[in-house]
Amino acid sequence: GSHPAAMIRNLSILLWHWPFGRSYSLTGDKCLEMSGIGHCFLTDDRSAYPTVDVVVFHHKELSNGASALPLDLRRPAAQHWVWLSLEPPVNNANIKQLGGVFNWTMSYRSDADIPIPYGKTLPEDGIHGFQRTSNHSCFASWVVSRYKPNQTRAYVYQSLKKYIPIELYGGWNKKRLPDDRLLPTISKCLFYLSFENSESKDYISEKLWRNAFQAGAIPVVLGPSRATCEAVAPPHSFIHVADFTSVAELAAYLKYVAADKQAYEGYFKWHQTHRIKTYTDWRERLCQICLKYPRLPSLKVYQDLEGWVNS
Ligand SMILES: *[C@@H]1O[C@H](CO)[C@@H](O)[C@H](O)[C@H]1NC(C)=O
Ligand SMILES: *[C@@H]1O[C@H](CO)[C@@H](O)[C@H](O)[C@H]1NC(C)=O
Ligand SMILES: *[C@@H]1O[C@H](CO)[C@@H](O)[C@H](O)[C@H]1NC(C)=O
Repeated sequence: GSHPAAMIRNLSILLWHWPFGRSYSLTGDKCLEMSGIGHCFLTDDRSAYPTVDVVVFHHKELSNGASALPLDLRRPAAQHWVWLSLEPPVNNANIKQLGGVFNWTMSYRSDADIPIPYGKTLPEDGIHGFQRTSNHSCFASWVVSRYKPNQTRAYVYQSLKKYIPIELYGGWNKKRLPDDRLLPTISKCLFYLSFENSESKDYISEKLWRNAFQAGAIPVVLGPSRATCEAVAPPHSFIHVADFTSVAELAAYLKYVAADKQAYEGYFKWHQTHRIKTYTDWRERLCQICLKYPRLPSLKVYQDLEGWVNS
């Protein structure tokens, strides 16, 4: 390369189908507008297939037949196919058939080729403050839609509610909260049950990042290990279910924290030093491919995608 500018080339990313069938506008330079990432172009126009650098396939629609891989088209030699899912292993159905197809993975996992966590901890910047109430009218709340009696979180909930009051929201209880009521409702509570639907490696969803942290309730986490959570969450920001030998002991600790102002406020000291960024927009996530692109392995194939997902 002679001139530095000549080394920056445009990258093009084709999203083969929109996750969960909901599409968003891709007009303009979305990655520059939304994430400050230049030379990165997203399209959902399949006629661009022969020329794009990267094609992204969201798992759900491949698994339920709503969409299919373009196996009948010639695959350009330098093109990379990305497998995308933000679901834990148990929700990635029909994955066996997808071995030997993809070059890169994109998921919440830190060891994915393109890691896209639900949220991130960043240094405090003086702009993104926290709004908290001191007027709590609720002890703990939980929003749950896909409740299954044999999930660990269901056992813990059924037992915990014998010791402390828990306000229940979501589809399971037929008390769905509209989007604009979610955080205000949770913020009335001292604690929020960030109970994941499965305890899987690195799987920390919006239940922690958005529901608890953004509402300003102390998260009570059931999910990956304390060490995994500590690696990504702000310091002293959550209570972990696995730290207690019984639900009774957990409940006793929650009552102690609720009654002791200093202990309670201790869980919010991080507001002075850190802030949270959550990711909710698929476009913003797709733009991350361009940031990572120069460091991605050029020759790679997931021969056993199922094995990787379950590892
Ligand atoms: C505290 O919250 C309760 C219930 O939401 C409300 O009735 C009361 O007026 C609030 N008090 C203050 C001081 O905001
Ligand atoms: C829970 O029950 C469902 C359906 O009855 C079953 O498919 C699943 O394997 C069970 N999960 C566990 C963790 O036992
Ligand atoms: C991507 O994966 C396909 C399917 O296994 C493979 O044929 C191709 O060589 C891989 N491409 C790159 C650039 O790694």
